[in-house]
Amino acid sequence: MAQMWPILADFLLFLIKVVQGPADSTVPAVVGTRAVLRCRNTSVSSLISVVWKIRSKTGSHCLLAYRADTNKTDKTNCNERMTWESSPYHDPALQIHPVRLADEGNYTCEIATSDGTFCLVSALIVLVPPAVTLTHDSNGVVVCHASAGKPAAEISWAQGNGRSIENKTHHTNGTVTTLSSMSMINSTNAHVTCLVIHPAMNQTQTIELSPSDVTVNCMVEVQVPRNYQYQGKPGDSLSIECPVKYCTEKPAIKWCLIQGMKCLLLKDGPTRRSVWREGNVAVLNFMSIQQSNSGLYRCRAVVGSLSHESHAIRVIVRETTDFIPMTCEPQVLPGNLADNVVLSSVTGYRAVLSCSNMSLVNLISAVWKIRLRDGACCLLAYRADLNKTVRTNCSERMDWAARPDHDPTLQIHPVRLSDEGYYMCEIANIDGSLHQNYTLSVLEHEGFSLLLHYLLTGSIISCVIIVTILYCTLQHRGCFQGSLFHCNFPTVSTPEG
Ligand SMILES: *[C@@H]1O[C@H](CO)[C@@H](O)[C@H](O)[C@H]1NC(C)=O
Ligand SMILES: *[C@@H]1O[C@H](CO)[C@@H](O)[C@H](O)[C@H]1NC(C)=O
Ligand SMILES: *[C@@H]1O[C@H](CO)[C@@H](O)[C@H](O)[C@H]1NC(C)=O
Ligand SMILES: *[C@@H]1O[C@H](CO)[C@@H](O)[C@H](O)[C@H]1NC(C)=O
Ligand SMILES: *[C@@H]1O[C@H](CO)[C@@H](O)[C@H](O)[C@H]1NC(C)=O
Ligand SMILES: *[C@@H]1O[C@H](CO)[C@@H](O)[C@H](O)[C@H]1NC(C)=O
Ligand SMILES: *[C@@H]1O[C@H](CO)[C@@H](O)[C@H](O)[C@H]1NC(C)=O
Ligand SMILES: *[C@@H]1O[C@H](CO)[C@@H](O)[C@H](O)[C@H]1NC(C)=O
Ligand SMILES: *[C@@H]1O[C@H](CO)[C@@H](O)[C@H](O)[C@H]1NC(C)=O
Ligand SMILES: *[C@@H]1O[C@H](CO)[C@@H](O)[C@H](O)[C@H]1NC(C)=O
Ligand SMILES: *[C@@H]1O[C@H](CO)[C@@H](O)[C@H](O)[C@H]1NC(C)=O
Repeated sequence: MAQMWPILADFLLFLIKVVQGPADSTVPAVVGTRAVLRCRNTSVSSLISVVWKIRSKTGSHCLLAYRADTNKTDKTNCNERMTWESSPYHDPALQIHPVRLADEGNYTCEIATSDGTFCLVSALIVLVPPAVTLTHDSNGVVVCHASAGKPAAEISWAQGNGRSIENKTHHTNGTVTTLSSMSMINSTNAHVTCLVIHPAMNQTQTIELSPSDVTVNCMVEVQVPRNYQYQGKPGDSLSIECPVKYCTEKPAIKWCLIQGMKCLLLKDGPTRRSVWREGNVAVLNFMSIQQSNSGLYRCRAVVGSLSHESHAIRVIVRETTDFIPMTCEPQVLPGNLADNVVLSSVTGYRAVLSCSNMSLVNLISAVWKIRLRDGACCLLAYRADLNKTVRTNCSERMDWAARPDHDPTLQIHPVRLSDEGYYMCEIANIDGSLHQNYTLSVLEHEGFSLLLHYLLTGSIISCVIIVTILYCTLQHRGCFQGSLFHCNFPTVSTPEG
């Protein structure tokens, strides 16, 4: 019987070569755990021998054999992690504990019994559960890593909106790292859940990110356009809007009123309240605005250590009809003539009347109210909000000298005698309004030429005489009623055409 063993072994190895075909079964095992490979069960009395022939993926071979007659086990090249599960005499199952990635391969069990010889091939597949981490970067992008899994893990998102990007990296040991990124910037979810699906894990892995984790690196942005303004009449209700972009946690909104270099914090009160409106818009509501509510406002969004401040938002409260009369009211003009600036012009020339020197920043309107000597009246008005000029009964010869929003100077070209009268220019800007009154007198061209001639030839005495004559003539017409006569030549330019 002892001599029979080598012969039997040779015969069995021959059989392995002949018999080995596709594996009969696939045995999955998670790395680090105990793997058991089963053979055919036979009755104790009929068992002759069992041989496990192992060929691993890495190319190494090993043999584990048992002979029933001698009740002895032979191990050739097999490492100590491979043993019988119990006793081969009862059950010839092979166990590997702990199983390693390198153990993957074909395990052939050859069993000889009195009923015959049987061969069973099992393919051992070693599963490696991936290490799962969920991180986020400063751009609000959340990344789910399933590192070195075998087979490759699949990742999905509980808050999936189809915008995730997947990347798989294959390692030389057969494991795969799966990475899935998803942008959470627009999300209002406090929790981010990535589901890792892998056969080595009993259940899908769920990781929740706390709101603070996300918001720490998330941005807060107030989206108020530059130079935004609201207008209203006293008594109106008004809502100032402050659209806010944020990640998860709703920011706290602070409103303030700019006063010089400071911005005074505004608390809720009986006349105003800060609220949230749909679509992430913070709103400051005024129940009934007053002229005193005019000014520059700011909103600020704060989440934790993050904050963002808006551009200044202008609020203008005024009676809309304040500065722009719709009709011409001659009885209003003239005012206190003694205070009027008197301008002189010459027929056929261009007369230029500059308006008040008030700042044109935040201009609301510029209006020329004109009452001519014959009692007719006209209006030339510019409305900044409409960027439009409104002309009421004014002659075509009266117009803006330039763009009214740059310089609301009036020009009359060519000037006629009938243009004599009272001119009032009123400029209104956000800070208030200022006006300037003029009395325009017009000289006949002929008289002016004579004056100019004497001026140029240096005859001062003649000039004084002519000026006196002109002054008396005009006095006689009753224009100036005691006001000073200004020989205002700089306002007269050379004739054109
Ligand atoms: C295991 O057997 C299959 C055929 O059944 C073969 O394709 C594969 O290469 C074998 N694996 C090893 C590690 O020998
Ligand atoms: C062999 O026997 C053992 C124990 O009796 C049992 O657990 C196992 O399932 C059996 N294997 C087969 C292939 O029948
Ligand atoms: C085989 O040997 C083992 C110890 O090596 C022993 O426990 C067992 O009882 C023996 N079996 C038989 C049938 O002799
Ligand atoms: C996937 O990730 C690897 C390593 O991080 C990188 O080299 C590769 O460019 C990425 N591929 C894609 C398509 O993003
Ligand atoms: C496989 O290789 C990767 C990358 O080299 C490594 O991170 C991982 O731990 C390895 N896995 C095993 C089970 O050896
Ligand atoms: C976020 O929302 C804006 C506008 O609502 C959109 O243009 C942008 O594509 C969104 N981004 C993501 C990552 O969903
Ligand atoms: C599956 O869960 C059981 C008990 O719940 C545990 O004993 C076993 O190790 C788990 N298997 C894997 C692959 O996680
Ligand atoms: C200018 O004229 C207006 C209208 O007649 C008058 O109300 C106002 O007081 C005048 N201003 C000055 C400074 O005289
Ligand atoms: C406007 O003119 C008045 C006097 O006519 C003067 O006191 C004031 O400083 C001027 N303002 C500017 C901004 O030039
Ligand atoms: C409009 O102008 C004409 C001619 O200058 C004048 O006769 C008329 O009275 C003016 N209308 C008003 C309302 O002043
Ligand atoms: C106002 O209108 C004029 C043309 O009528 C245009 O050239 C100018 O740019 C406009 N100004 C503003 C502030 O829109």
